[in-house]
Amino acid sequence: MGKLVITGGARLHGTIRSSGSKNSTLAIMAGALLGKGETILRNVPQIGDVRTMMDMLRALGVHCEEVSRGVVRIDATEIGTTEAPYELVKRMRASFSVLGPILARKGYAKVAMPGGCDIGARPIDLHVKGMQALGALVNIEHGYVEAEGDSLHGAQVYFNLPSAGATQHIMTTACLVEGTTIISNAAMEPEVVELANMLRQMGARIHGAGTPTVRIEGVKELHGTDYTIVADRMEAGTFAVAATITRGDVTIEDVRPEHIEPFVLKLREVGAVVDMYDNAMRVRCNARPMATDIMTMPHPGFPTDLQQPFAAMLSIAEGVSVVTENVYERRFKYVNEMIRMGADIKQDGRSAVITGVPKLTGAQVTAPDLRGGAALICAGLAAEGVTEVSGLEHVERGYENLAGKLQELGADVGPVSNNIERETILV
Ligand code: EPU
Repeated sequence: MGKLVITGGARLHGTIRSSGSKNSTLAIMAGALLGKGETILRNVPQIGDVRTMMDMLRALGVHCEEVSRGVVRIDATEIGTTEAPYELVKRMRASFSVLGPILARKGYAKVAMPGGCDIGARPIDLHVKGMQALGALVNIEHGYVEAEGDSLHGAQVYFNLPSAGATQHIMTTACLVEGTTIISNAAMEPEVVELANMLRQMGARIHGAGTPTVRIEGVKELHGTDYTIVADRMEAGTFAVAATITRGDVTIEDVRPEHIEPFVLKLREVGAVVDMYDNAMRVRCNARPMATDIMTMPHPGFPTDLQQPFAAMLSIAEGVSVVTENVYERRFKYVNEMIRMGADIKQDGRSAVITGVPKLTGAQVTAPDLRGGAALICAGLAAEGVTEVSGLEHVERGYENLAGKLQELGADVGPVSNNIERETILV
């Protein structure tokens, strides 16, 4: 159970580079299961969730290794087993997305019901509905989802809501399904587009990814490929918040402006100066941020994954902000911890009313989940005194070397692996 100790007050300044996108990598690694032959993925972030996905592919009897820093080789010519164990799927929801590729390759797949961060109900009904539309027989029993079907066929699939995971899962599966599949009300997240780009490089025929209608024409076989993972828009957004909340001046390299635009527009509303370049962004702020309202929505709305860090910044803004979380109803678990740091937040259901306070004070707090942990770290950077964020393992699932990057920008942060070490430091 790692901890991060932050002495707040340092203005962040300097330049860092974004790591590869967590959510693109996870979907793409599952997609690599479709290919016969070697797939090389580059710019893969070194984070807990990627390690879990590597373990998952190996558990399926697929060759998967990190050949050098950030370069992962996957060879799914043979898939040794069609069953994905509970021990791995419970650690990370994204590992459920191996179901469709195994089904498409082997005609049968059995995958445990997914776990992951506790941020709200995370049903799999749209995934199941999509598989059934493609002709699979799906049976949910004893905590496992079993899908079988030797002769899957293309179909029209309509999603009640644009789920990123279900869109990626059905799009991937349909690549090897005979006939044409059309996904309506598809998610438009950049991670859907990235996955489609990679699958196309493997020989898939996909049109319309990034729009509400995705069309997939099934092919008989896909081959391996060499693909570079795009930059992580959520990591870039988190550092942009860290720059703003500390009144700093930070340049983030390797950013795709079109991926992060909705967030940038809101950041400007609070008074940050954001310069966008072809492949980088500079974020500056030299005054207390101003209050604003945010409402999370599927892309191109404000991303739910940046709601928590952004709210941490609003907690010291001038005025009252309303934060509405429309995607995950339990993505407010960091609020109680923020209140321990002096924030004035009233949360009820899907909304939080944040009355900005002039300053936060350092406290011992616990990261409730990945982005909630990032929010507490941002708050700690701005707080007076020392903040000790425990539960760091949540943060390490999705941020590569967060403490190291913050240090590069001048933050006073240091990891502590357990209580004993911290006590020693305090003495
Ligand atoms: N939903 C359903 N039924 C389904 C699937 C989803 O009702 O079958 C609902 C969910 O309950 C949620 C909404 O649809 O209310 C959106 O969920 P979505 O399926 O889009 O999310 P996801 O694919 O499970 C990915 C990211 C999340 C990110 C969301 C939304 C990965 C591995 N995860 O999850 O990332 O918040 O999209 O953009 O790609 C994170 O990185 O911290 C994280 C949680």
